[in-house]
Amino acid sequence: MKVAVLAGDGIGPEIVAQALKVLRTLARDGLRIELEEAPFGGAGYDAHGDPLPETTLKLARQADAVLCGAVGGPKYDTLPRAQRPEQGILRIRKELGLFANLRPAVLYPELVGASTLKPEVVSGLDLMIIRELTGDIYFGEPRGRRKNASGAREGFDTMHYSEPEIRRIAEIGFRTAAKRNKKLCSVDKENVLETSRLWREVVSEVGKDYPQVEVSHMYVDNAAMQLVRNPRQFDVIVTGNLFGDILSDEASMLTGSIGMLPSASLDARAKGLYEPIHGSAPDIAGKNLANPLATILSSAMMLRYTFNQDEWAYRIEAAVKNVLARSYRTADIYEAGTRKVGTNEMGDAVVAEL
Ligand code: IPM
Ligand code: MG
Repeated sequence: MKVAVLAGDGIGPEIVAQALKVLRTLARDGLRIELEEAPFGGAGYDAHGDPLPETTLKLARQADAVLCGAVGGPKYDTLPRAQRPEQGILRIRKELGLFANLRPAVLYPELVGASTLKPEVVSGLDLMIIRELTGDIYFGEPRGRRKNASGAREGFDTMHYSEPEIRRIAEIGFRTAAKRNKKLCSVDKENVLETSRLWREVVSEVGKDYPQVEVSHMYVDNAAMQLVRNPRQFDVIVTGNLFGDILSDEASMLTGSIGMLPSASLDARAKGLYEPIHGSAPDIAGKNLANPLATILSSAMMLRYTFNQDEWAYRIEAAVKNVLARSYRTADIYEAGTRKVGTNEMGDAVVAEL
């Protein structure tokens, strides 16, 4: 199993280093895995003038899976859009056809006090957000800037979905729900957007093939509210690229910290890119403060979804649970009475558990 490792920027290298420690520990126990690193994001720009250098894309194509840290930083904020680190992640998703983004939000019982929501609202939370990742207003054309008739500047983007794009992500949604609690909530803005009217129609059609799954439809504004009002009503949420971006950040706070949430971005054959859902956090980069657990849990998702190695994945997840049970906490999830540790020490604690 070959993994392209793209640590990226900011806290990326620190958190990815912890996931690599974990994978190398499993490799000593017999997991067959080959890891190869390449520059990406701002680091790609620094090395080759491109956030997704040709050589990095080639490595990612050859690999069975890609493990990413995070990209972006103030140093790159003034670059033209094509050279910005964010374009690296958007392009790699598109180039590899990674249309299905799985973002589980699970609350570990030990972290119930770290959430800003009341324990009775969030305890036991286990939801899966499935975000379409290669379409929508993120990629729709035309887009750009222009001047209108009276000379005022305008910016415009195009929200766009085709039936096959909706159908394939809906199928992932129904199949995922069928394996879980059999409830799928499709989120759209059907009361306003044409794109959403088609989305809702197609999701309903696909649902006819999955009579065992109870399907509901919700407007995105209501979904944003319901996620903080009563998040446990949800099992699987399926939604478009933009709404999924927003709702998954919101859902992360239910679990205590965005530093806990892993993700998988899959193509049609379950080749995948795995990354924490959080960003590069330039303010704490290089300070040994970042929480590496989202990245470590992303490597577990990699073993499960791309490599079909459920047992190895489970070992990582169990080690993370145990480390939390033993009160290890990075700053973002720290509460009085627990043990505050840095990025490295958290990685070491997971390795010790393994
Ligand atoms: C995410 C991020 C990215 C996105 C950015 C970095 C382009 O917010 O993965 O959620 O908007 O998809
Ligand atoms: Mg986001």
